[in-house]
Amino acid sequence: MAETTYDVVIIGGGPGGYNAAIRAGQLGLKAACVDKGVNGGATLGGTCLNVGCMPSKALLHASELFEMAAKDFAGLGIEVAPKLNLVQMMQQKAESVSALTKGVEFLFKKNKVDWIKGAGKITGPGKVEVGGQTLAAKAIVIATGSEPAGLAGVTVDQKRIVDSTGALSLPEVPKSLVVIGAGIIGLELGSVWRRLGAKVTVVEFLDRITPGADAELAKALQRSLTKQGMEFRLGQKVTGAKTSKTSVALTVEPVAGGAAETIEADYVLLAIGRRPYTEGLGLESVGITPDKRGFIETDHWQTSAEGVWAIGDVTLGPMLAHKAEEEAVACIETIAGHVGHVNYGVIPSVIYTWPEVAWVGKTEEELKAEGRAYKAGKFPFTANSRAKINHETEGFVKVLADAVTDEVLGVHMIGPQVSEMVGEYCVAMEFRAASEDVARTCHPHPTRSEALKQAAMGVEGWTMQA
Ligand code: FAD
Ligand code: NAI
Repeated sequence: MAETTYDVVIIGGGPGGYNAAIRAGQLGLKAACVDKGVNGGATLGGTCLNVGCMPSKALLHASELFEMAAKDFAGLGIEVAPKLNLVQMMQQKAESVSALTKGVEFLFKKNKVDWIKGAGKITGPGKVEVGGQTLAAKAIVIATGSEPAGLAGVTVDQKRIVDSTGALSLPEVPKSLVVIGAGIIGLELGSVWRRLGAKVTVVEFLDRITPGADAELAKALQRSLTKQGMEFRLGQKVTGAKTSKTSVALTVEPVAGGAAETIEADYVLLAIGRRPYTEGLGLESVGITPDKRGFIETDHWQTSAEGVWAIGDVTLGPMLAHKAEEEAVACIETIAGHVGHVNYGVIPSVIYTWPEVAWVGKTEEELKAEGRAYKAGKFPFTANSRAKINHETEGFVKVLADAVTDEVLGVHMIGPQVSEMVGEYCVAMEFRAASEDVARTCHPHPTRSEALKQAAMGVEGWTMQA
């Protein structure tokens, strides 16, 4: 058996794995990235590029414009009668995804990373086997990501009952779609299909949507999505599903107890979270035992086995591409003898619905639970001139700052394009800025970003434009 020696072998080619490989190449380490592709495909990029962030955003963008053309253009004096071409919408998604995965391939070549196709298995300290080939590695980085979580009684067949991967490629617009789980996937993909014409009902176990988001944002989002036609059934659990050729009958019961009922839909999307993926990885060969939920525990990305590291969705923390990317860089820099660092307090979250929701730092609920004294400043987009002239006034920005030091502790926003605005506060928080620092920073006019400044001014009670 041929054996090649590497400084670092990375298992998994998603945002964790491919960024680790590129950084390793940049730092002059001899690196290989072993990836088996997602869903039978043979492209780099993992969940994010192939069946996650990117295809979902492609459909969100296209469906958003479709709905705007149908509902908002006339008010701007543009008369059109949009007609859906679902095949083309899927095609443009596939083309963008393909360009992105090829981009990662190019970056591997540029940084002299060997891309080894196939399933990698750790067979002992410093050894990874792929399709009969053994790679010797001074360091192994596990970046094998996650997969959709299942639900007893609801079998995903990718025909009538789909997970996020199936929901990204439905062959038709459902007449009715039931989404199980009012989390990020459910609301984003539910939005896509509602905009294209489906009647969407979301069944959620908890009595609120988007757990983890600030409660005020979650309420505002639910109100807005309800107004758009999405129906929410909170505090309900799905106990079974019967599938026929053309529809699904779901049995739903109130969590608090009460009579069960049946909801019929032609498609069901199961989106109740994701779980870490370590199948066939050979963890036992190096003595790693995942925690109860299957996550690999780490200390500064180092696992309990010497020379074996882990990053991204397979480890604890938010399951987000940018979290995986930060960990990739920090992990490789540590392996290379530098000091790697991730500020877990400043990892932003975004829900790409309309309006978008974005936040970073602590929620009001978290600050209250910690007993931390804070002040809040809030600014509505109804008072923002750019939002007003664009007829997109929904939402607000809320800034939470320490009552004594004025340090920004959390920022929560809902409104069109807030995904592009939250980064400003990430930078501010990395520099441990006070709300006054943002309040006294000149922002361009007219932009939505002025709402960020006005909300910061609100912390000290001198918001001027509302
Ligand atoms: P992954 O991207 O899952 O990559 C792991 C890779 O490892 C895969 O290619 C897998 O096939 C491979 N692999 C696994 N085991 C082996 C093995 N033994 N040998 C070889 N290869 C192996 N996050 C965001 O930040 N923003 C978003 O907008 C966003 N949207 C999303 C939308 C959807 C529908 C979904 C499902 C997820 C979304 N996410 C989003 C989450 C994001 O995709 C993940 O957080 C991210 O992909 C995690 O990166 P990773 O590198 O840890 O793992
Ligand atoms: P999620 O954790 O965001 O939401 C799952 C929802 O399902 C929760 O509200 C939960 O209470 C509910 N739930 C759990 N069990 C249930 C049950 N039996 N019946 C009804 N409801 C139930 O998970 P989701 O939406 O599947 O997404 C997985 C992860 O993927 C996200 O947490 C996020 O990390 C990532 N993601 C990120 C995106 C982004 O950054 N924009 C987009 C999509 C996914």
